[in-house]
Amino acid sequence: MCGIVGYVGHRQAAPILLDGLEKLEYRGYDSAGISVLSGGVLDICKEKGRLSVLRESLKNNMPTGTVGIGHTRWATHGAPADFNAHPHFNMDRTISLVHNGIIENYQSLRDWLISMGYEFRSETDTEVVVQLVDYYFKGDLRRAVEQALSKIRGSYAICVMSSHCPGMLVAARKDSPLVVGKGDGENFFASDVPALLKCTRDVYYLEDGDVAEITADRISIFNSYGAPAGRTLSHIDWDAEAAEKGGYPHFMLKEIYEEPEAIERTFRSKLSESGELNFSDIGITEELAKGINRAVIVGCGTAYHAGVAGKYILERLLGVPVEVDVASEYRYRDPIVRPGDLFVAISQSGETADTLAAMRLAKAKGARIISLTNVVGSTHSREADAVIYTVAGPEIAVASTKAYTTQILCLLLLGLALGRLRGSADQQLCRSTLEEISRLPDMIRQVLTSDKDIRRIAYRYSAASDIYFFGRNIDWATALEGSLKLKEISYIHSEGFAAGELKHGPIALIEQDTPVVAIATEQRLFEKLASNIKEVKARGANILAVCPAGADLVLDSADESIIIPECSELVSPILSVVPLQLFAYDCCISRGYDPDKPRNLAKSVTVE
Ligand code: AGP
Repeated sequence: MCGIVGYVGHRQAAPILLDGLEKLEYRGYDSAGISVLSGGVLDICKEKGRLSVLRESLKNNMPTGTVGIGHTRWATHGAPADFNAHPHFNMDRTISLVHNGIIENYQSLRDWLISMGYEFRSETDTEVVVQLVDYYFKGDLRRAVEQALSKIRGSYAICVMSSHCPGMLVAARKDSPLVVGKGDGENFFASDVPALLKCTRDVYYLEDGDVAEITADRISIFNSYGAPAGRTLSHIDWDAEAAEKGGYPHFMLKEIYEEPEAIERTFRSKLSESGELNFSDIGITEELAKGINRAVIVGCGTAYHAGVAGKYILERLLGVPVEVDVASEYRYRDPIVRPGDLFVAISQSGETADTLAAMRLAKAKGARIISLTNVVGSTHSREADAVIYTVAGPEIAVASTKAYTTQILCLLLLGLALGRLRGSADQQLCRSTLEEISRLPDMIRQVLTSDKDIRRIAYRYSAASDIYFFGRNIDWATALEGSLKLKEISYIHSEGFAAGELKHGPIALIEQDTPVVAIATEQRLFEKLASNIKEVKARGANILAVCPAGADLVLDSADESIIIPECSELVSPILSVVPLQLFAYDCCISRGYDPDKPRNLAKSVTVE
């Protein structure tokens, strides 16, 4: 999704903007641009395509000046094109603006502005904002921005500059993240922290409705009533290195290999000094645990799949029904919220618009919201009543990997903690599961040692036009996630099924040599799964089984296999997905694509 960087200080702005935007490339974009105040005029340059195209076109005429804004655009209104790229500017080129989000009432505003004599150069919703700022500008940029925003419906993070107000930037946010970076004799805006880490680690997270004004040595933040907002300065303690590739060819691969440490860190973060599971910091008491009558989980994409695994885990440990829904559907249902509901919203980024809307809807209906997220200070974390952090470290690759496994781990740990407090989880099961979790990093390491075998298999499968995944019970979550991972980066058509559903339709898709990945981790279901394998094999399918070495019934019916360590049902989805993440990565590489920049996708989906 779009990225914003803004700079005011004593250094040349353009290189800082370009470097910052580069750190946001992982969010996905299709054009880029910068605007720098150069000799009293706004020097604006924008190009369709990758940042490297913009760098190339600036190579011999880099704008000079110490104030500027930059943007990477992920098209929503208007095709990817130079003229639709940001920054947008007013008619006399004295104000320029970058925007993340969607202006819902842009058409009526555009019509009105045209009737007032304004001319538009782009097809974007954003351009109305800069023209509105122009309309209201009477010498005070912040005032003009506030007046413009009062006319706007939708979501936004914006950053604005004007040649009439040199040495100053104004920014504002609603439903789209934005941070202010505090430097020494220089200050910054960015839509995400990695853009700033080379320059500063001290940031203010803006809240919805905030408008901020920065100069080289002043940061002023105002709330939606125009009063000083008094936001707290946060220090970023993770290393910029953590957001770099560290020798791996791609972020996705690096993040897969980081899973053992991510699991270890996340597990440790939920233990007290005496080694007991501890969720008291999020207000989980015996009384609350005993009062739970139902759990509701929402998320999108991979986060939703973590919720599907979570359903099986929480139902087993809590003994209550668990409802899991894609957030974009939940938000348009008329969902029933009852006292005693445990509501968990899962999101790696903590910024996903649909999940945020689902959280807000549930909250308005009286639910107590737990955000399960990877990003400290994210919008979800700030709006929720309580936050459980996956401590996966920054996840840069668009294809989510370590966030997924740590999300499931958190749901499992939460289930164990609640199950113990409620008395609904068998004590022996809790003990053995915790012991197994402590071995999980090594089990994942063991899976990662099969990387060459997985690559060999993936390179053969990567020529297929369709690959199907199936599994039963909790393995169904892995089938869904394995399939999503594959399709989003390799562009091979893929679907994930509950194995029992095959004969109700999907089996019609099976032809001679159709590749099918069967996930089988639960001993009690090996026999059933082996029957499903035979059904598709009888129609010509080629079966790749992902299962432990002891799954003879499954292995006997499969054509080839990826062996994973023996593990219990509750832990299995964290382990069985890892070879499928590698499989998707290898299929993508074999087909010549870049797994970190999948087409049409964005890391953080902050629009509906
Ligand atoms: C994951 O590989 C996908 N790119 C996508 O489905 C993602 O999980 C989804 O957009 C939700 O993101 P979130 O976890 O940041 O809310």
